[in-house]
Amino acid sequence: MDLETLCGKMEETVRRAGAYVRTAVPQAIDEKSGHSDLVTEYDVQTQRMLMEELSALYPEAEFMGEEEHLQADVTVGDCFVIDPIDGTANFVAGYNRSAVSVALLRDGQPVLGMVYHPWAEEFFSAIKGKGAFLNGRKLTLSDRPLADSLVGFGSCPYYRDLAQRTTRILGAVLDVAPDIRRMGSAALDLCDIAAGRTGAFFELKLSPWDYAAAGLIAQEAGAKVFDLQGEPLGFSNPSPVVAGAPSAAEELRTLINKTK
Ligand code: IPD
Ligand code: CA
Repeated sequence: MDLETLCGKMEETVRRAGAYVRTAVPQAIDEKSGHSDLVTEYDVQTQRMLMEELSALYPEAEFMGEEEHLQADVTVGDCFVIDPIDGTANFVAGYNRSAVSVALLRDGQPVLGMVYHPWAEEFFSAIKGKGAFLNGRKLTLSDRPLADSLVGFGSCPYYRDLAQRTTRILGAVLDVAPDIRRMGSAALDLCDIAAGRTGAFFELKLSPWDYAAAGLIAQEAGAKVFDLQGEPLGFSNPSPVVAGAPSAAEELRTLINKTK
């Protein structure tokens, strides 16, 4: 199946998953690695629902996902990478800013990404080389410096050892950029770059399911997305993520590397 056809079929599945999450009221809330790392019955059910429908659409593909230790060798063949609810802490708090995120990796590289924010009814999608779209409208960002960029960030809530460095970086960012934003869903934070709302984003450690789909969406809109060395992101292990309009992303990466 070609990627355009798959994309059309996947959209219905991802929208259905988002609609399910939007009306849900979580009851069974458990901790995973620690006090801030939560999972609800809806994270698990949504991932199962996505897997069932996506494997019916594309039986040859493997799966990697945030819940139920869903691992795969993503470096060969086609693999869906699923975050059923990115922003679970927001979901539990009733914050109404979380997303369903699904990417397709081909031999280790994202070729298709979808991120759906069901409360805002914003559906972001991208196919490699074909551009990024928000509700069918093509997204093209303009370059800008860090000095003209709101900067989104994530606080690495599951890696407490990175909290102090994150706050030092924020101090340095605030010497240059107009302001910062901490919204609670890395996937949506990266999509905000694609939409031109923020100019840059960083988080010192994210998992592949947090950024696989949204990183492609940001890149296809014209953003740079890389690690602290300026290298393309990997998808086998957690990674630092820096992204943004080209000038802002490079300035932010330099600033992060200077701030120990
Ligand atoms: C988390 C969110 C959050 C980011 C964390 C992620 P989850 O994803 O994207 O914004 O700071 O690092 O793990 O656990 O809610 O799917
Ligand atoms: Ca996530």
